[in-house]
Amino acid sequence: MKLLHLDSSALGTGSVTRELTAAIVARWQDKLPQVQVEYRDLDTSPLPHLTGSSLAQANPDEAADAARTLEQFLAADVVVIGAPMYNFSIPSTLKAWIDRIAVAGKTFRYTENGPEGLAGAKKVIIASGRGGIHTGAPTDFQEPYLRQVFAFLGVEDLEFVRAEGVAYSPQHRSDAIAGALASIGEPMRLAA
Ligand SMILES: Cc1cc2nc3c(=O)[nH]c(=O)nc-3n(C[C@H](O)[C@H](O)[C@H](O)COP(=O)(O)O)c2cc1C
Repeated sequence: MKLLHLDSSALGTGSVTRELTAAIVARWQDKLPQVQVEYRDLDTSPLPHLTGSSLAQANPDEAADAARTLEQFLAADVVVIGAPMYNFSIPSTLKAWIDRIAVAGKTFRYTENGPEGLAGAKKVIIASGRGGIHTGAPTDFQEPYLRQVFAFLGVEDLEFVRAEGVAYSPQHRSDAIAGALASIGEPMRLAA
């Protein structure tokens, strides 16, 4: 079983979502020691923004990285993603990764009946961190966006681990992290 671990926080060791993704991945490794983990830090190893030059595959190194990124996503049974809320949405580094995995003919396609996701056979776990409290509010362009992206790609098994209101006070922050850690779902062997 393969697990892809991604972080995108720009806050380094002070990051809430990095703490949460590390705890989630450790839980999977404890429960299923045979799990093979691949890691990418999208903050320190970002993918370039998708441009016309990217689509034309003008830069061989960039094209190779994009191909590897897509293969890595397709091969993963479990994907654990650290997704902080930045400016009501997600970090641009995470958006740049999404732009490389949403590929027509590979992870989705259009049919006479509309779009069809092709990357369904995996579990995606999102570790979400937010300074304010946005669940259910019109200010939330992070969780609904991520739900839409992964639903579009066919992923039905999507889990959110949320720490909200971490900027309100140190107590809010530690309570939110404790609550998020307590909410992590039980790892389970997935059908190959
Ligand atoms: C550049 C930046 C933008 C942010 N924008 C928002 C925002 O729009 N709404 C919000 O509630 N919190 C916002 N925050 C606070 C983060 O969501 C919060 O610090 C969260 O813990 C980030 O996860 P991280 O610690 O893993 O980076 C922002 C933080 C940064 C650094």
